[in-house]
Amino acid sequence: MSERKPITLPRLAEMKRAGEPIVMVTAYDYPSARVAEEAGVDLVLVGDTAAMVVLGYPGTEPVSMDEMIMLGKAVRRGLKAPLMVGDMPMGSYEASNELAVQSAQRLVKETGCQVVKLEAGGTSVERARAIVRSGIPVMGHIGLTPQTATSLGGYKTQGKTARGAIQLLEDALALQSVGCFAVVFEAVPAAIAELIAAKLEIPAIGIGAGPAIAGQVLVYHDLLGITTGRSPKFVKRYAEVHKAMVEGVSDYAEEVRNGRFPAAEHIYSVEPEELSEFRLYLEQKEGIGSKQAWEWEPLP
Ligand code: KIV
Repeated sequence: MSERKPITLPRLAEMKRAGEPIVMVTAYDYPSARVAEEAGVDLVLVGDTAAMVVLGYPGTEPVSMDEMIMLGKAVRRGLKAPLMVGDMPMGSYEASNELAVQSAQRLVKETGCQVVKLEAGGTSVERARAIVRSGIPVMGHIGLTPQTATSLGGYKTQGKTARGAIQLLEDALALQSVGCFAVVFEAVPAAIAELIAAKLEIPAIGIGAGPAIAGQVLVYHDLLGITTGRSPKFVKRYAEVHKAMVEGVSDYAEEVRNGRFPAAEHIYSVEPEELSEFRLYLEQKEGIGSKQAWEWEPLP
């Protein structure tokens, strides 16, 4: 792919107005960032899903700001054109506007992400307002918000009742009113997502929210089949990378065990004279017991 222009906020707004689908994917390290870059996606989210798919935690709650920063720095090194979104981990913004601004600034300064994302409506709307006012663009996230999944009754579709849908609409409008440039809708019935998205001027980016909104996001490890086991209904697997990786490592192990690896093409050669001289040295050394290398007289 030829060098692409970096994705900017005005470009995203223009894509939304033109009905041009926006593509976002998560990435958590240098190789996944390179893949996202080369695949030509628009936005790359260093999501706190890293907690589960990379760090092996049971949920997103335990991941720390330090861990997110380490991952974000690696992603930054692999990206050029896509807009990089840094996810604010649980505990980094809820308590006060001051904490939210400090955390957002830390994420931007230390990882090089251009914008941040935080979860939920309610008090998060005030936090988003404070961060936007500090000069950092914010992406909202409503519907199934994993950081607060327990209080939502688990990892469940949100907005399935008229009352729930009204709440989602209010949250989306509130996030837009405080200056969020986009909002993620996670696990929302397609018809509800479409109706809410139609009321927004900013792009809605869906994960399990149907096709009738401005963009889509999927978790890298889910779409490539790096994660195993049951995945949410909204995941489509475009590859079976875990299977291919297990096959590759098993083949390697088998070839080491049966002596087929390394083969001639994987080894370095040495000049025959150097080899013979080294052999002679070893023979001499054996002959003279404990003599050290520096005491050895080079052969004529
Ligand atoms: O953390 C994450 O990866 C996310 C996506 C699921 C949108 O928030």
